[in-house]
Amino acid sequence: MYAALTFVSFLLLGLNFPKAKGMCYLTEQHCVCSLSDMRTFFTCLPATTYELRGGNLSQFAGFSRTELDANEIAFLEALLVSKLIFTDLIVPEVSLPVALKVVSYTPLVSELEFVNCTFLKSADQLGIDGYDLKVSSLRFHKVTAAPLDDRLDISSLQNWLEILENLTVTESQVTSIPCKISTVLRALHLLDLSGNHFQDQTLETSFCKGAFSQLQVLKLHGNNLRSYETVCQILAHLNRLTHLDLSQNDFLPGPPFSSCSWPQSLRVFNLSSTGLEHMDRALPPNIEVLDLSANRIFILDLSIPGLKELYLSNNRLSTILSIKNLPGLEVLSIDQNQLSQLPTKDLLHWKHLKSLRAGLNPYNCSCKQTIREIQGLATHKALLPDWPHDYICRSPPDYQDYLLDEVPLSLLQCNKAAVVRQGSIVCLLMCLHLVLGLVSLPAYRSLFIVL
Ligand SMILES: *[C@@H]1O[C@H](CO)[C@@H](O)[C@H](O)[C@H]1NC(C)=O
Ligand SMILES: *[C@@H]1O[C@H](CO)[C@@H](O)[C@H](O)[C@H]1NC(C)=O
Ligand SMILES: *[C@@H]1O[C@H](CO)[C@@H](O)[C@H](O)[C@H]1NC(C)=O
Ligand SMILES: *[C@@H]1O[C@H](CO)[C@@H](O)[C@H](O)[C@H]1NC(C)=O
Ligand SMILES: *[C@@H]1O[C@H](CO)[C@@H](O)[C@H](O)[C@H]1NC(C)=O
Repeated sequence: MYAALTFVSFLLLGLNFPKAKGMCYLTEQHCVCSLSDMRTFFTCLPATTYELRGGNLSQFAGFSRTELDANEIAFLEALLVSKLIFTDLIVPEVSLPVALKVVSYTPLVSELEFVNCTFLKSADQLGIDGYDLKVSSLRFHKVTAAPLDDRLDISSLQNWLEILENLTVTESQVTSIPCKISTVLRALHLLDLSGNHFQDQTLETSFCKGAFSQLQVLKLHGNNLRSYETVCQILAHLNRLTHLDLSQNDFLPGPPFSSCSWPQSLRVFNLSSTGLEHMDRALPPNIEVLDLSANRIFILDLSIPGLKELYLSNNRLSTILSIKNLPGLEVLSIDQNQLSQLPTKDLLHWKHLKSLRAGLNPYNCSCKQTIREIQGLATHKALLPDWPHDYICRSPPDYQDYLLDEVPLSLLQCNKAAVVRQGSIVCLLMCLHLVLGLVSLPAYRSLFIVL
């Protein structure tokens, strides 16, 4: 019955037993414990995730025990827990060494998470020993801590940092990572630095020579990056990078022709909400997924043979882009743009297209034929996932705000009208041609084609 408490106490960063009072509850395999005066404990032994939520750990810090006896070690070694989460806590830095030592006795703990925690700076040098930590995934979200600068001796943690695979530090006002840490993180696959204060300059020092050499996934969304070109140059050496998220950075307009080449390995590239008006920057050559949504793009001419997914939602495009330059496209989002119609016949040449999101555009519902064709894409080809609720007429005035699906087609005259109109112009041209004999045959043909 006290097992859960025992473990929580250990986790309470080496607290003195009798002093640590807590309460735990178990849902699924997730055990949540909080500090409180209540003495009711449920056993959390079957849990694989332990979470300690809420409180100020400073009061316990003075009682840190560094030595565990054989029984305690046996207990820790038998635990099934694989993930530890610390939420809403005030954590004195001096408690960390003992906490890590406790964690090093649990054979299965591979993930450590700190959410909304404040680390209180200790007066002394921070002497953390890496012990034999098997933690390969470390996450900090909304934490505050004094800068480590020279207080932390990296060499003691080196063995551990060298095996770390995932590191997440999000929304924590971080401006840079010291180069001496970046270069030690040589097994890191995933680095998520979203929602911090990285700038071009500090990104450069963080990604110094030799840094993050195995990195595959890098997320930098919501930082203060400004120069697309500079970011490219800083990251160009990451030759295993497959996924790069630069969304929600406000890039300045830059030179269209760039000397920088992105890593050839990049497959997923996110430039959503980056203030782009033209996509005239160098793109990675082998990308399969490109997100350009929520920008101000009104012209786009992409030629990427391997591209499979293209997200263009929430831009200013009035035409769908050229199909022949994107032969492999499977998924296209072009909702919330300025399209008044869909080039339905052309779309059918996109042989691999499986999904086309094109709602919330100002559709012109004057033509029966056009509406029928869009309905056909939705019903026969099942291409439009947002059909019918997002397909709304902007014009003509009679049908404004109607769903395309609800326009009374029998009342539309567009086809006939168009034929008659075209017919009369063709007739006019032919008459001119016959009467004046001025228009040469090729010119007449091209006019006819234009019509
Ligand atoms: C946490 O506890 C310590 C010592 O008990 C105290 O000095 C500190 O002010 C507390 N912090 C907060 C935010 O309550
Ligand atoms: C963050 O943790 C503090 C206690 O350290 C708590 O008072 C606050 O409500 C938490 N904030 C959120 C958003 O959970
Ligand atoms: C690292 O993160 C990736 C992607 O979120 C996940 O699939 C993988 O299991 C994580 N690895 C570890 C060791 O936690
Ligand atoms: C790109 O980033 C935005 C958030 O900034 C996210 O909503 C979107 O899903 C991402 N796109 C892809 C393809 O992952
Ligand atoms: C809608 O299409 C019709 C027929 O093609 C055309 O005459 C009309 O000008 C268009 N309306 C708008 C607002 O583009």
